[in-house]
Amino acid sequence: MSDKNRQPWDLGRFIKTLSYFEVFPLLNWVQNLFQGSSQDTQSKLVGAKQVGVILVAGATGGVGKRVVRRLNQLGYRVRCLVRDIEKARLILGNEVEMVVGDITNPETLTPLVMANIQGVICCTAVRVQPKEGDTADRAKYNQGIKFYMPEIVGDTPENVEYKGVKNLVEAAAKYLPKASVKTIFDFTQHQENLKNVWGALDDVVMGGVSQSNIILTGETALFTGNVSTDNSGGFASVRTKNFDPAINLSGYEGVKLRVKGDGKRYKLFLRSDSAWDGVGYSHSFDTVDGAWIDIRVPFADLIPVFRAKVVRDRPPVNIAQIRSFQLMLSKFEYDGNLNPYFSPGSFSLEVETIKAYGGSPLPGFVLVSSAGVTRPGRPGINLEEEPPAVRLNDQLGGILTWKLKGEDSVRASGVNYTIIRPCALTEEVGGKQLVFEQGDNIRGKISRDDVAEICVQALQYDKACNVTFEVKATEDKADYIDWQQLFASVQRDN
Ligand SMILES: NC(=O)c1ccc[n+]([C@@H]2O[C@H](COP(=O)([O-])OP(=O)(O)OC[C@H]3O[C@@H](n4cnc5c(N)ncnc54)[C@H](OP(=O)(O)O)[C@@H]3O)[C@@H](O)[C@H]2O)c1
Repeated sequence: MSDKNRQPWDLGRFIKTLSYFEVFPLLNWVQNLFQGSSQDTQSKLVGAKQVGVILVAGATGGVGKRVVRRLNQLGYRVRCLVRDIEKARLILGNEVEMVVGDITNPETLTPLVMANIQGVICCTAVRVQPKEGDTADRAKYNQGIKFYMPEIVGDTPENVEYKGVKNLVEAAAKYLPKASVKTIFDFTQHQENLKNVWGALDDVVMGGVSQSNIILTGETALFTGNVSTDNSGGFASVRTKNFDPAINLSGYEGVKLRVKGDGKRYKLFLRSDSAWDGVGYSHSFDTVDGAWIDIRVPFADLIPVFRAKVVRDRPPVNIAQIRSFQLMLSKFEYDGNLNPYFSPGSFSLEVETIKAYGGSPLPGFVLVSSAGVTRPGRPGINLEEEPPAVRLNDQLGGILTWKLKGEDSVRASGVNYTIIRPCALTEEVGGKQLVFEQGDNIRGKISRDDVAEICVQALQYDKACNVTFEVKATEDKADYIDWQQLFASVQRDN
């Protein structure tokens, strides 16, 4: 085509595109100054947030509130199951997502509570307090070292520690993802946060006139538009902004997309560096007109590409650090070859989900239980030496006996779990060296900070899957903890 036949190029759309993807920080800064939007008010696109919600039961408790804080620091999407929302706001603040529910009442463990969960951390407990009473902030219960004669107030251990835990794990089991699959984008759910994640990136950046858009219908993401080869163009795409921190897909084999297309061939790109115009890792896939199909893209099959040219001798995509995703319809395949199913004009690709598949199973349900659960009634036990909960198990409504039954219900539920049995809980600072044991014989103490850290770490390690262990802390500070090794040091339950 001669220059005089060129279509007018849309400078405005070009600037809009670069500005959406924050390519020119100065431009964005000026725009924000006038329009008062964007970065100040927006949260960062945190990678961990893309992989489902972590539901925390007992979030208002001593361990629970620390779990929530830690998950937030690590960028997880957190949902707190609370009984009293006013009280919970005072403890957890206004920023945290909350749902009202009571584990002793299965009817309150609704689909809304469980929607899109990736994991559950359960730190609920019956209320134990000194018989002589406690301060408003439960200082006597919480300190965990000085002995006060305890009693149970409110609901029974049978209801909370056994039936409640059983209700929760059974409700969650229906929603926890299949062990080896991790949802990255679920467009079947209306998610406000997705609106500012995906944006159009068409050949306007190279002078072309193709136009596309992504429409989040609440049921799918519809990538649609008009692709034109005028002005030497020929591609339309939608891309995510960069995730920071990146999405970690280590341990997975690839990603799978559930799509309904129009018979055309599209490309998926993953990027592991944050450069705007850097190397992308691409895979072409064919769609079937009007039919929902699953596309599997093994990471090993991704081709490193720079502007549609294959980059030789490039290391494979760094799956521990996925920064962005892109879907594209292009006239070209690679190295100048044409896309055999390309035709200019309108197109439509609907996507329901993008998931990582083939991963090693990770724990989906983490239960904070207690050291001593198997000791009441155990032959040869010297009660004098045992912690109060073991000595006073009967007076405390069989608290440890019911906790063990609660554990059993988790082990029998079919979910991948981690059961943590801490020794006496304290309010001391965490970060101590930890001792993991099995056989239920240890005595000692551990800070709630450290228990919360173990809960959160457990979610990330396949070696933490289907294990039950006791834990106490030493007096020594831990400069570094090799969590994989620590979890691997305990035997899996049968
Ligand atoms: N204290 C120790 O020395 C010790 C030792 C070993 C193990 N543990 C275990 O460690 C875990 C954490 O202890 P902690 O000191 O953090 O407990 P905590 O401060 O007493 O917190 C208990 C949490 O459970 C919630 N909860 C109680 N019943 C519930 C129900 N029916 N439905 C939903 N939530 C309910 C409470 O919510 P509300 O705010 O609504 O009451 C609270 O958030 C417990 O399992 C405990 O038994 C404790």
